[in-house]
Amino acid sequence: MKAAQEYIQANKQRFLDELFDLLRIPSVSADPAYNEHTARCAEAVAQHLRDAGADKVEVCKTPGHPIIYGEKMIDPSKPTVLVYGHYDVQPADPLELWETPPFEPTVRKTSIHPDGAIFARGSCDDKGQMFSHIKAFEAMSKTSSLPCNLKFMIEGEEECGSGNLGPFVAANKDRLKADVILISDTGMIANDTPSIDCGLRGLSYVEVEITGPNRDLHSGVYGGAVANPINILAKMIASLHDENNHVTIPGFYDDVMELTQAQRDEMNKAPFSLEAYKKDLDIGDVWGEKGFTTIERTGIRPTLDCNGIWGGYIGEGSKTVLPSKASAKISMRLVPNQGSDKITELFTKHFMSIAPKGVKVQVRKHHGGEPVVTPTDSKAYLAAARAIETTYGKKPIPTRGGGSIPIVALFEKELGLKTVLMGFGLDSDALHSPNEHYGLFNYFKGIETIPYFHQFFSEK
Ligand code: BES
Ligand code: MN
Ligand code: MN
Repeated sequence: MKAAQEYIQANKQRFLDELFDLLRIPSVSADPAYNEHTARCAEAVAQHLRDAGADKVEVCKTPGHPIIYGEKMIDPSKPTVLVYGHYDVQPADPLELWETPPFEPTVRKTSIHPDGAIFARGSCDDKGQMFSHIKAFEAMSKTSSLPCNLKFMIEGEEECGSGNLGPFVAANKDRLKADVILISDTGMIANDTPSIDCGLRGLSYVEVEITGPNRDLHSGVYGGAVANPINILAKMIASLHDENNHVTIPGFYDDVMELTQAQRDEMNKAPFSLEAYKKDLDIGDVWGEKGFTTIERTGIRPTLDCNGIWGGYIGEGSKTVLPSKASAKISMRLVPNQGSDKITELFTKHFMSIAPKGVKVQVRKHHGGEPVVTPTDSKAYLAAARAIETTYGKKPIPTRGGGSIPIVALFEKELGLKTVLMGFGLDSDALHSPNEHYGLFNYFKGIETIPYFHQFFSEK
């Protein structure tokens, strides 16, 4: 272990340079215009795995973006850890809000990252975190100190729904055999308050379209006499929450696993400053379901949010028009034991039922994912907690992550394997936003912590 840690210290600058090269590749999975770059990024990741010492490295074709597989089997009697990560990133727009270009990584200091942070799309989510596993593996492999077998599965479609990952996992059950899944694609409370996410929310994502008259109309000639799809859509969306900010879809909460008061009290012991939260986001107040704290609202409660809305005239000046159509994208975050398909169905039925006769409604289903909770008493969780305590000097607090990683439930279903979410980012790292960044502290702390996980997990 000492040799691997010394190797890391001696190679920090190269580890940073290599991450920068990866961040320069705009592997935006949602936009086909970037396909050539996304493919190039997959090849680069595969080459890094080979250089680090992995065997059987393969860039596996899928109907979408490729999945990279690689492994290092040292001894069949030792445990096997399967590392999952993703090399694809979210679109970088709105570009004008980036202080430096999204695919030209630069280091800048921030109040939260006084030692500097790497600003680039994907720096935290997930290239920086994923790459720290490859570098930790390199350090162990080059110093002959790998304590267990390692497998890597790095995908390129996480940010657009992991549509081809399910079939890949189902078709490669043997190759993916392992004792545990290890993922660094979540966050911690703060650099001086380490935590481990022990749950993720699921997702149901739909797109709705309201159609009124068969063509755009003069808003003076027809206005007031024909249902305006934008007005109707706004009203329909607004009606999806009641005065206490509960979701009004019948049956929406039926399967929600309610926590005991004791469990909720435990959750709320995690350090959290409402004042700092509001200040960071520059909001006058928080918003959410009555009767729950902010930690509970993002951790254990389901939500419904409009993610985008459009229709009518949005160009320069004014155009007096009553549009024929209006649309919105709506996401629902789910908690145990809600099911993505069932919620999508409930939404669809309800949304159709509240539309007035004067419009037609279409609901299209996008990707989804199931919620998960991961154990806090498993050998793997305890190994992660001990690894973090070793490098951060503090025991991590178990938390619930508000985001979604659909593959975690899929791994459990297909491979019967539990996951440990050993994330090193911070919620404030602007994931999916302009100026995404990842602390230098976090990047290197991740690389240093990962070998300890493998060591502790492999101990008898
Ligand atoms: N890494 C995130 C998920 C995440 C972030 C979990 C922070 C917990 C804390 C992941 O890349 C992501 O963004 N997932 C998507 C889901 C997907 C189906 C598009 C999400 O949560 O919106
Ligand atoms: Mn991610
Ligand atoms: Mn993401």
